Amino acid sequence: MAELLQRMQDRLHSLPDGLQAHIYRVRDVALELASPHDIDAGRAELGALAHDVCRAVPGDELLKMSADLGVTVTDVDRDFPLLLHGPVGAELLRKEEDLTDHGLYEAVRWHSTAHASLDPLGKLIFLADKLDPQKAAVYSYQARLHDMALESLDLALLEFLSREMVARMEKGETIHPASVDARNSLILRSES
Ligand SMILES: [Fe+2]
Ligand SMILES: [Fe+2]
Repeated sequence: MAELLQRMQDRLHSLPDGLQAHIYRVRDVALELASPHDIDAGRAELGALAHDVCRAVPGDELLKMSADLGVTVTDVDRDFPLLLHGPVGAELLRKEEDLTDHGLYEAVRWHSTAHASLDPLGKLIFLADKLDPQKAAVYSYQARLHDMALESLDLALLEFLSREMVARMEKGETIHPASVDARNSLILRSES
């Protein structure tokens, strides 16, 4: 894991400065969330450093890379290809950096939309990305979400997905099927 961490840090240096700064802020939040949820700090750090490896790739290039790497593209992704930076990034790291940790792969893959199969590490990376303090203007409820995330990753994720879906529906926007499945799964599992 130390080798992968070093390679991720090397890769980070090639990303735009603003993106690097976001990634390091996400790393700090991920480390803060790891301990109350008994999640390995090394994996939380790696997930944070890896999550946006393809965030600076333009949408048309992400569509091409998806075809080359065998990444499934939904109609919603085709309409807004930036959603593919997680799946393409995960697949790239699996092929080029020998990312064999399945939980880490899934965390990178689903950090934009979430997914019903996300494990605690995946939920942590998803939330840490949204809890970057610089995104407070985007998510007005961020402080409350931060408190929730320290208590329960599931409740915080459900809160975020519900709020974002309402906002998107009010604007007449699409909702990614993986987000719908993730929210349904959180509700159904909490009822059982
Ligand atoms: Fe991202
Ligand atoms: Fe991010």
